[in-house]
Amino acid sequence: MRKEEAYRKAGKEILKRLQYERDMIANLGNTSAILNEFMEDINWVGFYLFKNNQLILGPFQGKAACVRIAIGKGVCGTAFEKEMTLIVPDVHKFPGHIACDDRSNSEIVIPVMCGDKKIGVLDIDSPIKNRFDETDQKYLEEIVEFLVESCDFI
Ligand code: SME
Repeated sequence: MRKEEAYRKAGKEILKRLQYERDMIANLGNTSAILNEFMEDINWVGFYLFKNNQLILGPFQGKAACVRIAIGKGVCGTAFEKEMTLIVPDVHKFPGHIACDDRSNSEIVIPVMCGDKKIGVLDIDSPIKNRFDETDQKYLEEIVEFLVESCDFI
């Protein structure tokens, strides 16, 4: 399946699941499950949420992962601090990369922001180097935007 087609299908499912629900944990859970179902060649997809000045593991699909990430550390903490999407073609070359799943070779992290309020990040890992590009960034940022509009953050 082409990437665009996979994202369109995932987007439709996410819309269907989220349109009548505003609970954050439920919506993050279903979004990670749908991305896991439709995205090819990934081994981990999930959220880290900003709590007590650090990122804490939220809803995800994949192997058990590290629970706490300091702001500015790893790919997640860096994307969160800089408030920008990071595409890492080879995680072994990223200084300070935090290895949670030793199958991961590339990674994309999208910050989750509700206006000025920093909520956390969406993190996706792949066993294939160079798995993520601008197409992934575009669709994933759109999905995160829709997700943010669909949730009540308390
Ligand atoms: N690799 C991430 C840590 C989270 S795991 O990939 C699930 C990082 O460097 O921030």
